[in-house]
Amino acid sequence: MTFEEKDIIYPPVHPGTDRTFIRFYDGELDLNSIFYSAEKDTLPKRIFVTDTTVASLASLKGFVDFFRGEDFSHPKIEAGFIGKRGKDILLILGAGEPFKTIESVLAIVKTALDAGGQRSAVFVGIGGGVITDMTAFAASIFKRGAHCELVPTTLLSMVDAAIGGKTGCDFDSYKNMIGSFFPAQKIHICPSFIESLPQHEYRSGMAEVVKTALLYSPELYEKLEKYPEILNDRKNPLVGEAIRICVNAKAKVVEQDLTEKNIRMQLNLGHTFGHALESMCGLGVVTHGDGVAWGMARAADLSQRLGLCTKEHANRVKSCLASFGWETEPVHPEMKKKYGNNEEEIARILLNAMKKDKKNSSDKIRFILQENVGETVITEVPEQDILAVLK
Ligand SMILES: NC(=O)c1ccc[n+]([C@@H]2O[C@H](COP(=O)([O-])OP(=O)(O)OC[C@H]3O[C@@H](n4cnc5c(N)ncnc54)[C@H](O)[C@@H]3O)[C@@H](O)[C@H]2O)c1
Repeated sequence: MTFEEKDIIYPPVHPGTDRTFIRFYDGELDLNSIFYSAEKDTLPKRIFVTDTTVASLASLKGFVDFFRGEDFSHPKIEAGFIGKRGKDILLILGAGEPFKTIESVLAIVKTALDAGGQRSAVFVGIGGGVITDMTAFAASIFKRGAHCELVPTTLLSMVDAAIGGKTGCDFDSYKNMIGSFFPAQKIHICPSFIESLPQHEYRSGMAEVVKTALLYSPELYEKLEKYPEILNDRKNPLVGEAIRICVNAKAKVVEQDLTEKNIRMQLNLGHTFGHALESMCGLGVVTHGDGVAWGMARAADLSQRLGLCTKEHANRVKSCLASFGWETEPVHPEMKKKYGNNEEEIARILLNAMKKDKKNSSDKIRFILQENVGETVITEVPEQDILAVLK
């Protein structure tokens, strides 16, 4: 048999997604000035997407009210609300991980379609990681790729979820099973959003901050280690400093490896364990950050077990995590609550969930482990070692 070959060479698939412009804002939050200061005629059509909690924030009232009709008579803010402001649309979805569904993504797509959106439309996600992930995903599939801007409103989405172009939604009870790589063109970071976060959400974001510090900034890690009180001190300048360090660190990584072929995998420190925990406790029971923090403790134990790091390093990491109030024990209390006290069975349940995780290319499960702060290794680990640190 003989054959001929031919290459088809393409330009980049999504023009306009080859760079992301990030702006950090200080002081009072004002979305009207961010999105409505330019001449009306020059503005593209925008599909703003947020959730019920964010839409109800006092700091957003002046923005959301414009979408409620001239006399603000439009129905109260609830999931499914669709309001108009000139040619722009605001869609409000339910809040939290249980709403990170393909149905929500399709609701965004349908809203844009019903509003006559074209590929030139800009999808603007205003919210935590759930909203930013889904809005960017909807933008990526709408007419094969519209535009996307993000306004992360949780600490977690500022330092992690909104940065780096990973989009998607959960499916079939598993996290982020559907999605795409589609970097936002602009990201607007307003740290003052943090002030209204419930404490557990703030702590959840802090887990990604600690993760980034462990991976890329020994200096920041030391500061966090010395000052876990940052959990009760949101206005401390260290918070703003940490946000910038994390954004810059993640930006550097995704510039080199947007589609997670190599170094971007490091950002999954604690995530293989954490995602399994989140999925198996029932999505939404353990916050993403709390899952990741517990996962980092498991990764520290696994690193020690495999002889990659010293016991001192593993203990240092675990005591830092514990000082922030995170669970560091092998068996998470939420697993016991759901599955009873059989530790062997709990370990197996988590192992099976990890096997299903999309990040595993073969039967073996790959982990991000550390030799020390700032010294990270990626390695496949035999099942018996994984089970050993889960009970
Ligand atoms: N794409 C990525 O690279 C990436 C990285 C990390 C996490 N994620 C995803 O991010 C999601 C978690 O994000 P999250 O922790 O922001 O969760 P979230 O989006 O569910 O937000 C948490 C809660 O806080 C509320 N909220 C948001 N902003 C608020 C504010 N300023 N004040 C008061 N309440 C506010 C939300 O309504 C929600 O109820 C997960 O689905 C995870 O998979 C994605």
